Amino acid sequence: MATTTTQLTQNTTDAITTEPSYTVPGLTTKQGATVAQALQQRLNMYNDLHLTLKHVHWNVVGPHFISVHQMIDPQVEIVRGYADEVAERIATLGSAPQGTPGAIVAQRDWDEYSIGRAGAIEHLGALDLVYQGVISSVRQVAKDVEEIDPVTNDLLIGHLHELEQFHWFVRAHLENAGGKLSTGNARTETSAAQKSSTGAV
Ligand SMILES: [Fe+2]
Repeated sequence: MATTTTQLTQNTTDAITTEPSYTVPGLTTKQGATVAQALQQRLNMYNDLHLTLKHVHWNVVGPHFISVHQMIDPQVEIVRGYADEVAERIATLGSAPQGTPGAIVAQRDWDEYSIGRAGAIEHLGALDLVYQGVISSVRQVAKDVEEIDPVTNDLLIGHLHELEQFHWFVRAHLENAGGKLSTGNARTETSAAQKSSTGAV
């Protein structure tokens, strides 16, 4: 692991583990590193999410193709923007953001999106779970950094406004007139896709 201060560069797939030599005024360098580390996993998550959303954009088939195909692209662009904001916040905090595909795969603690070519409702069922995971973790990190870095907290809260609205766009396709979601308590993307396609509530 690249953790010594004598190394000029850090391996691009290693988590941020070194204290920066400077950070934003008002934080210690240790606090700066802690916040940057939490943000690095959000960077991995946003990079994974915008690629996954594009994968859905390309692989959706069936009668609802065009509406879902077109609904996804603005989400891709906005989530790419979030990745940029998070990466630049990491740099502002004095650490080096890692934006390579290898960093996503090496550091993520979630599984690869598991649905390939499939109907719109199946993908939306799986995306219900994806958004549940992303939103829960962004909320948790926003809470974790609230005391030590309200600026990062504010950044993440801003992201949640739209992420939660996107989640609603997805869920509105899975909801019946009684307000119940067809994905129910599914725990995997495959089962969420299957439940949503059969309309089970
Ligand atoms: Fe396209």
